Amino acid sequence: MATGSGSGGTPARELFGSKWGFVLAAVGSAVGLGNMWRFSYVAAEGGGAAFVILYVIMVLLLGIPLMLSELVVGRKTHLSPIGALRELGGRGWALLGGLFVLVGFLILSYYSVIAGWTMRFALESAMTGFPGDPGQHFGEIAAGPAAMGWHLAFMVLTIGIVMVGVQKGIERAAMVLMPTLFVIVIGLAFWAATLEGAGAGYAYYLTPDLSELMNPNVIRQAASQAFFSLSLGMGAMLTFASYLARDEDLNEQAVTISFADFAVAFTAGLVVFPVIFALGLQDSVGESTVGALFIALPGAFEAMGGPGRVVGVLFFVALAVGAITSAISLLEVVTSSIIDEFGIARKNAAIMMGILIAIFGLASAHNTDVLGLVDQIAGELLLAVGALSMAIFVGWRMKDPGAEMLRGAGPRFTGAVPAVLFLVKWLLPPVIAVVVWFQIWATRDAITGFFGAA
Ligand code: PFF
Repeated sequence: MATGSGSGGTPARELFGSKWGFVLAAVGSAVGLGNMWRFSYVAAEGGGAAFVILYVIMVLLLGIPLMLSELVVGRKTHLSPIGALRELGGRGWALLGGLFVLVGFLILSYYSVIAGWTMRFALESAMTGFPGDPGQHFGEIAAGPAAMGWHLAFMVLTIGIVMVGVQKGIERAAMVLMPTLFVIVIGLAFWAATLEGAGAGYAYYLTPDLSELMNPNVIRQAASQAFFSLSLGMGAMLTFASYLARDEDLNEQAVTISFADFAVAFTAGLVVFPVIFALGLQDSVGESTVGALFIALPGAFEAMGGPGRVVGVLFFVALAVGAITSAISLLEVVTSSIIDEFGIARKNAAIMMGILIAIFGLASAHNTDVLGLVDQIAGELLLAVGALSMAIFVGWRMKDPGAEMLRGAGPRFTGAVPAVLFLVKWLLPPVIAVVVWFQIWATRDAITGFFGAA
């Protein structure tokens, strides 16, 4: 087994067994509910293609530089977020690592609830088909004891994989699950192209309404979607990179991971939009809430009869697969920090933290309004705060991040490093600060709405 010695005299650290193991695990973290569910509904809300354009800009300008920033901090220190930031930045910056752990905890607590719905749809639809009245069905399963049960089952699965370790758990799961997901999503896109309403779906998805490009709300959502989808702003990529050998080209990997993540989100859109337009369901998704796609898509699959059932099962299987590999990385951020900070064995750390997260998540499983609120606070606001802090850290505090970016860099990327450093230092902080500012207001509204409605 590949191991490495951590800095600061820590015991040998388990490393990824291969370059592709790392890349697939990182892509596994990035590709998840965010790609196949959140991307489509935020795009539907944000004017379709206009959102997609803004999103691509955000991934290129903010996402890739931020991802590289997280990767260099992780690989340089071979430590989990708290220790890594303490080592490179001093005690104060360790607090940022603490924030990452908190955000991982919070996001996983509700992510697992949605993943639970997904698993349930995958299994139920395989066994008994899709429900006749999807709206009513969703109302029954989204919250309450059933949602809690599936949430707990999903957490058990996640804990089971993280417990086993980096190579035998995380890497192995990613090597099997990610290719499966790619094949399913690409297959579904080909199938969706044969649907009758496909043209209208593509038109909406791919013809931009340029007036939306300047809409601050859509810009905020595109930036936040990039952080969420690329797993940035909470140390997930940092943690995975801490299990990397020193000689990989991190620039190439940041680009590969980001591209793969976008490709899956984009391809998922090529499935979702034709399906909902084929059945005239666009209005129900446009005024979207967390649940919209979980109602519209099963309804669409059901209406298509036999073939709909097969593709529907595949769609939800892919969604559940994506959710698992992402949940693993969320739990790993929390677990690895507990291991490093308190010297607790991996197995115990994973079980203990997993149970705490599962218990906390029961609140989201009990009430979807709680889920929406925690998503706004952790998945939108705190991720943006984490991303901002990380940009400031690498841009202004860390000593010579460029040297770590260049270590192992191939000739294709060496020339780009100064430009990336420039972006991290000068572009990212002000731009992400604006995103944070908008997220504060959105969060304030969400909190008011929550207590007003309660
Ligand atoms: N990137 C995941 C998704 O798109 O579903 C969600 C996620 C995983 C966010 C890990 C943050 C994270 F650290």
